[in-house]
Amino acid sequence: MKFIVCDSYEEMSREGAAIIAELMKKKPDCLLGLATGSTPVGMYRELIRLHEAGEIDFSAVRTYNLDEYYPISPENEQSYRYFMNHNLFDHVNIKKENTHVPDGSAADPDAACAAYEAEYQATGGADIQVLGIGQNGHIAFNEPEEKLYAATHVTGLTQNTIEANARFFASVDEVPTRAMTMGMGTIMAARKIILLANGKNKHAAVEAMKEGRITTAVPATLLALHRDVVVICDREAYHG
Ligand code: GLP
Repeated sequence: MKFIVCDSYEEMSREGAAIIAELMKKKPDCLLGLATGSTPVGMYRELIRLHEAGEIDFSAVRTYNLDEYYPISPENEQSYRYFMNHNLFDHVNIKKENTHVPDGSAADPDAACAAYEAEYQATGGADIQVLGIGQNGHIAFNEPEEKLYAATHVTGLTQNTIEANARFFASVDEVPTRAMTMGMGTIMAARKIILLANGKNKHAAVEAMKEGRITTAVPATLLALHRDVVVICDREAYHG
């Protein structure tokens, strides 16, 4: 696991975008694993800027997102589908049919998760998977638990995550209590992983990753088992 410690959120965003832009130039039909949350927004903004500057082309890029609330309509402004359209897809020349987010409106969520997993695995996995991290060390919606799932599945959200995500909703009662999420094995199928973390409230989770020991109590520590992980963080997240 490699750590890049940046002076600011803007620098982190540029670092992350530069890694993705380099891949896109080498492999125009690359597959990107994408994440939501406030952390990657600056990186998406930088990718939009690079696209507008004529440096990167999304016309052949394919994307698979990590997770989605359940149940939620894709038109709901709090859905991760809406988030991705609004923060990236609507501003670049990506083909919408090449973008994939688990379907929060599926009638049978377990079947939808199994289909998402099969479709994703058939691609051979992402060239780069982008991750944020929860304060409790969750990645995607793999919450701290004694047993973690390998594949895409339906999960309940912890109270900690519901409260942390309440800032995006009118009230805490409106935060969905379930989600569909890639599992640890799905995430590990990517050839390269970049994890972004900023702010003091992410320090404990980053510290656990720095330790290099693995525990399902901090799901992000399992990333130590992957051979190409780059953690891009700011000084607060790294040093506390
Ligand atoms: C959510 C998402 C995660 C994300 C996390 C952190 O729970 N499912 O993928 O990493 O929030 O969000 P933020 O970047 O806003 O701190």
